[in-house]
Amino acid sequence: MTAYRQLGTSGLTVSVVGLGCNNLGRSGTATETQTGTNTVIGAAIDEGITLFDVADTYGKTPGLSEEMLGKALTGRRDDVIVATKFGMDMKGANGQDWDRRGSRRYIVKAVEASLRRLNTDWIDLYQFHTPDLLTPIDETLSALDDVVKAGKVRYIGHSNRAGWQIAEAEFTARAGGYTRFVSAQNHYNLLDRRAELEVTPAAEAYGLGVLPYFPLANGLLTGKYSAGSAPAGSRLTHSRQNLLDRADWEQLAQFGRFARERGRSEVEIAFSWLAAQPSVSSVIAGATTLEQVKANAAAVSWVPTPEDLSELNELFPRTPKVALFS
Ligand SMILES: NC(=O)c1ccc[n+]([C@@H]2O[C@H](COP(=O)([O-])OP(=O)(O)OC[C@H]3O[C@@H](n4cnc5c(N)ncnc54)[C@H](OP(=O)(O)O)[C@@H]3O)[C@@H](O)[C@H]2O)c1
Repeated sequence: MTAYRQLGTSGLTVSVVGLGCNNLGRSGTATETQTGTNTVIGAAIDEGITLFDVADTYGKTPGLSEEMLGKALTGRRDDVIVATKFGMDMKGANGQDWDRRGSRRYIVKAVEASLRRLNTDWIDLYQFHTPDLLTPIDETLSALDDVVKAGKVRYIGHSNRAGWQIAEAEFTARAGGYTRFVSAQNHYNLLDRRAELEVTPAAEAYGLGVLPYFPLANGLLTGKYSAGSAPAGSRLTHSRQNLLDRADWEQLAQFGRFARERGRSEVEIAFSWLAAQPSVSSVIAGATTLEQVKANAAAVSWVPTPEDLSELNELFPRTPKVALFS
C-alpha cells in the first residue's frame, strides 16, 4: 500500500506512488489491450494508488491511452485523480495547430477532446506538456484560468519547463490574477539529476509539487538489466536500446550492491530516494504487469540516512560526468 501527500502546497492529495499511463495501448506490452490495462489499473487502485498520469499524445495512436484509461476507470472515477496533458504534437488529431499549442484556440479544443476520450466531466490536474515558445505564457494562463473557472479542470500543472520558465509562469499568474500552476513534471531519477540544478529549487521556492518522470530510467534502475542481458519483452529490448548501449554497468552493479547491503530492492531505493527529495509529491512509474504495480506501490518504504544519501551522491553525481563545455 502506498501513502498520501499534498501536491506541492495545493489542496490536492495524491498517492506518493502514482501510475504512469504511457504504456496503455503501447505496442508489445501487456497493457496494449483493454484487458491488460484493466488488470494494471485495477491492481493500482487495490494498492491505494490514486494518481493516474496520462497525456493526450500517449498510445500507438494519439488519444488511445486516455481512451483506455477512461474505460478502465468506469465506476471508479470519483475515487481517483486523473492527471492528463496537452501541448505535444497530436499529429492532426486536434486539427491544425500551427505549433501554437499553448494558444487559447488550441487549449479550448484540447480540453474538450481529452474530456471526451477520458469519458469524464472534469480533469483533476491538467498539465501543459512542453513549453510553447511562440505563444505568450500570459495567453496560456488566461485560457487555463477559464477552463478551471468553467469547472472542466480542477488544478493545472506544467512539464519540461526550465527554471526560468517556471519563475516566468509563476509571476505572470500572480500579476494577472490567474490560476497558478501547482506541479512540475520533469525527467528526474538517480541517473539523471539535472532537475536539481534549477527545476527542484524553483519548485520548492514556489510551492510546486514535483512529479518526477522516468523514475526507473526506463527500467535501468530495476536491476533486471545487466551487460548483454535483458529480460524478453522488457521495454529496452524493443525501444530506446541506445540506453543499454550507453549504460555504465559497473555503476549499476554498485547500485545493486548498495541495495542488497540494506536488504532492499533497486526499485525500493530508486523510489524512496526520489520520495525523500523535499519537492517531490508523487513518483509516477509506468507498469506493464500486476506484479510491477504491487512492487512499485510498496516501494517507498526505505528512509535514507544522511550517510546513505552521501553514498548515493558519490555513486550518482548531481552534475553530469561528461564536462558540458569541453
Ligand atoms: N512529461 C513528460 O514529458 C513525460 C515523459 C515520459 C514519461 N512521462 C510520464 O511518466 C511516467 C513514468 O515514465 P515511464 O513509465 O516511461 O518510466 P520508468 O518508470 O522509468 O519506466 C517504467 C518501465 O519500467 C518497467 N518497470 C516498472 N516497474 C517495474 C518493476 N517493479 N520491476 C521491473 N520493471 C519495472 C516497465 O517496463 P517493462 O516491463 O517493459 O520493462 C515500465 O513500463 C509515464 O508513464 C508518463 O506518465 C512523462
